[in-house]
Amino acid sequence: MRLPRRAALGLLPLLLLLPPAPEAAKKPTPCHRCRGLVDKFNQGMVDTAKKNFGGGNTAWEEKTLSKYESSEIRLLEILEGLCESSDFECNQMLEAQEEHLEAWWLQLKSEYPDLFEWFCVKTLKVCCSPGTYGPDCLACQGGSQRPCSGNGHCSGDGSRQGDGSCRCHMGYQGPLCTDCMDGYFSSLRNETHSICTACDESCKTCSGLTNRDCGECEVGWVLDEGACV
Ligand SMILES: *[C@@H]1O[C@H](CO)[C@@H](O)[C@H](O)[C@H]1NC(C)=O
Repeated sequence: MRLPRRAALGLLPLLLLLPPAPEAAKKPTPCHRCRGLVDKFNQGMVDTAKKNFGGGNTAWEEKTLSKYESSEIRLLEILEGLCESSDFECNQMLEAQEEHLEAWWLQLKSEYPDLFEWFCVKTLKVCCSPGTYGPDCLACQGGSQRPCSGNGHCSGDGSRQGDGSCRCHMGYQGPLCTDCMDGYFSSLRNETHSICTACDESCKTCSGLTNRDCGECEVGWVLDEGACV
């Protein structure tokens, strides 16, 4: 259908007021984009690592290779493969950050070997190190080494977002995901680790693996001679 020109123009302000499309809501965060760029950069380093290497091991080759290893030529080759030409946002970010990447490549690589940490966390401040969250990269609940006791996901982990609270995996509950949900029992617990294991299907609660370990029978099962059947 073709709208008369005037009507089409009249629609324009309306279109601008429309809520963003669903895809826009899922737009990658600056941290995601930075991580993507770093992943591509690291891949580029792998891809160029064996280049210009004839296979022999002459002194000449060793010398040329070690020159190439940290050369601007290699950097350019890596940068070229970083963004699809159609990926506007990637190219925009690359253009804005090329100098940072070049400085890292030529001067800072040995001092800060982890590009993600140096670039996304320390320099652009769009991500946090693993196990930390939020604008100031605070430690997740349960500590940055093993957030949520290893039994859950820390909100905002690795990003500048979230509140550091735990979303526990199936079977676990509590602020640090150390407690067991109904239908699970604690099969190991010490200062640092807590492991919850599923009860037999006949138990609503239990203290062990079998139907003789039920505290209470699940709906549809009855207690008979000490077991839920
Ligand atoms: C707690 O249990 C885990 C898992 O079995 C074990 O690796 C760890 O060493 C234990 N820690 C202590 C303090 O006993």
